[in-house]
Amino acid sequence: MISSKIEKALNQQVLLEAESSQIYLAMASWAEVEGLGGIAAFLYQHSDEERMHMLKLVKFLNERGGHGIIPTLKAPPQKYKGVRELFQEVLDHEIHVSNEINKLVDSCLKEKDYTTHNFLQWYVSEQIEEESLARQIMDKLKLIGDDKAGMYIFDRDIASLGGTAPAGGGK
Ligand code: FEO
Repeated sequence: MISSKIEKALNQQVLLEAESSQIYLAMASWAEVEGLGGIAAFLYQHSDEERMHMLKLVKFLNERGGHGIIPTLKAPPQKYKGVRELFQEVLDHEIHVSNEINKLVDSCLKEKDYTTHNFLQWYVSEQIEEESLARQIMDKLKLIGDDKAGMYIFDRDIASLGGTAPAGGGK
């Protein structure tokens, strides 16, 4: 049985993952309208993965005698200044998510909730991957700068940078 303190903290994480999914969905839609089909596909998939991160938490909460709460979400930004600004936001957001996961892990240790602590290890590893991918993308975008041909190639090749399983692929 989960403590009410951990239940509350996990539900905060449900909200954060749901918001992540929503933000990446808005980014994907913007990229698609801008004619950046590769970037859009990458972000649509990323959005699906975040939804799966949320679902995994909801199911864990319910299995442990808690209640996964499906939250109200605020509307994400609809427009972005450019591709580099967009991916900088992705990186900043993922760093924020990692910090929140670390705080959750810390709370579990304080509460001696080793089951949830164990469950969260998956998220710890996932965040390492997500941050590293976002950093890799930012490095490439810095190299490209304002070069339009470079952006064309980046959009074409971003799918190969993914390194993540399709949504629902065991993650
Ligand atoms: Fe599920 Fe990218 O945090």
